Amino acid sequence: MKKIESLAEYYQDYQESIDHPESFWEDKASSFQWMSKWSKVLNWEFDSPKVEWFVGGKLNITENCLDRHLEIRPNQVAILWEPNDPKEKVVKITYKELHIRVSIFANVLKNHGAKKGDRICLYMPMVPELAIATLACARIGAIHSVVFAGFSAKALADRINDASCNILLTSDGSYRGSKQLCLKAIADKALESCSSITSCIVLKRTGEKISMKPKRDFWWKEEISKVTSLCKAQKMDSEDPLFILYTSGSTGKPKGVQHHCGGYMVYAEYSFRNVFQYNQNDIYWCTADIGWITGHTYIIYGPLLAGATTLMFEGVPTFPDAGRFWEICDKHQVNIFYTAPTAIRALQACGNEFPEKYDLSSLKTLGSVGEPINEEAWHWYNKYIGREKCSIVDTWWQTETGGILISPLSNITKTKPTYATLPLPGIQPCIVDLNGDELLGNNVQGNLCIKFPWPSMIRTIYGDHERCKNVYFSNYPGKYFTGDGCKRDHDGFYRITGRVDDVINVSGHRLGTAEVENGINEHPLVIENAVVGFPHDIKGQGIYAYIILDKNSLSENELTEQILETVVKEIGSIAKPDKIQFVRGLPKTRSGKIMRRILRKVAEGDTSTLGDTSTLLDPSVVEGIIKNSK
Ligand code: PRX
Repeated sequence: MKKIESLAEYYQDYQESIDHPESFWEDKASSFQWMSKWSKVLNWEFDSPKVEWFVGGKLNITENCLDRHLEIRPNQVAILWEPNDPKEKVVKITYKELHIRVSIFANVLKNHGAKKGDRICLYMPMVPELAIATLACARIGAIHSVVFAGFSAKALADRINDASCNILLTSDGSYRGSKQLCLKAIADKALESCSSITSCIVLKRTGEKISMKPKRDFWWKEEISKVTSLCKAQKMDSEDPLFILYTSGSTGKPKGVQHHCGGYMVYAEYSFRNVFQYNQNDIYWCTADIGWITGHTYIIYGPLLAGATTLMFEGVPTFPDAGRFWEICDKHQVNIFYTAPTAIRALQACGNEFPEKYDLSSLKTLGSVGEPINEEAWHWYNKYIGREKCSIVDTWWQTETGGILISPLSNITKTKPTYATLPLPGIQPCIVDLNGDELLGNNVQGNLCIKFPWPSMIRTIYGDHERCKNVYFSNYPGKYFTGDGCKRDHDGFYRITGRVDDVINVSGHRLGTAEVENGINEHPLVIENAVVGFPHDIKGQGIYAYIILDKNSLSENELTEQILETVVKEIGSIAKPDKIQFVRGLPKTRSGKIMRRILRKVAEGDTSTLGDTSTLLDPSVVEGIIKNSK
């Protein structure tokens, strides 16, 4: 696939993609290997919604990630794996080896009865086998559902049950910096309430003692010794599901965002090549976890479709010290580095001496994703990591969009700190006001929508199409609503200002306030609670919980501890509130609605502009909340 090489070409392609979207995408799709060609490029309407790309086309994404590279680059490293412990050996897997290992594991899955359309859950550390198993699912047409290995047993069980997965892939344990986590014990707990799982295949990583349930649990190593390395790729329709990935919304339980084979494939490679301006032989590193969409699209699919070398890191940025990222960049001569603002801020706080120790001259593109990047972090990234010679791409997108929609193209688009800048070709963003009217021209601010389909957009929510319609396509009929606020400045550049719904973004992890509230409510002494986000220096947003308790004799400290434990058990440690305030009441309107605006203001420490509180059911609760705020 040819990439855009100049700003003029970008504008030309952009215009072309608006004027003739079908021929534009048909041209991009033609660079892939299809088993049979599509009969129509696009069918769409946003009311149901129903979106189909490359209608009737048949393919397997793994043939495009693996088989088609075999002749040209069999011995090029596809996955370069850096372990948690820098003393452990790096693993290099070539395209040829990856093809074999994916085929072998695909046969293991088949041996366990997996077939096209089945859902397979992966709950694993960041080891090469996670990428291999993900691709193995795709090879046989099973739908992978990767669950971040920081989620609790309860959260894992909910996700397995929602999708009725029949196989679980996990490991004995995982290493995260100096910590070791026994994943299998968590999986065992989850499986107590997951009757759909018939096989659990366990990779040995830490060697810790675990229990193996006869006839249900199998060792990875033994299973791969039973099969051959030949596995024909399953023929998939362009609109067959490729994967489900759970993400939080403003209400209810997490939703299984569903992506489909053809369109996702085309957009993953297209966006990867263009945003990062990938050149052959570049070493590319995305620090995300495969448990999130960034890992799916920009560790596995995008880079492998492009025939790149993708670096995968098992550990954390601060182990053994805060120079780890930079040490890895130096050691592997990384050219393209993609991380999250929260990591940048955390490392910035550790001091400049860490990056200064390393040779970072191989870097040419630096990426940011997951949350708005503040100006200070942007400048530090530019100066201390990019040494003022790299292009910074602030990439805006979402689990639902499948790939990057608004971003500079490295070294092509002018960058501007805190701005995601311009839409990629094929992407038609619009800003709407609260009435849903599109705000035309520049210097406008409102809610961000997309008014035309793109190939990797969400197709449905697994098992709940109605929810997909309500959440994304009902607020502004005829448009996809992102849930983000946005500004378009005098240059026509986009700046994402953050969520406008009840979703909070903690260290780039998306959490619904309702989800955290439900977790807190599981504590027997909690009567009611309300959760809001507040600005946090490192995490971007922190979690502030206001809690009403039943009468009790425990101390506040004891209760705080217990409530934190409850949240960890219900969701995982990423959802632990940073601040807990016990309150007598919550500010409610007479109709019983919690006035979150007031709670947000208090959490932000700004009580000067609370607005009119006289219409509240009990205005006096606000005084108490302000007085005891944390
Ligand atoms: O609020 C936006 C924020 O992250 C949300 C999507 O979260 P998730 O689905 O978990 O995907 C994260 C990785 C793609 C968005 O609605 N967000 C993501 N990237 C940016 C961002 N906010 C500002 N700038 C970004 N570059």
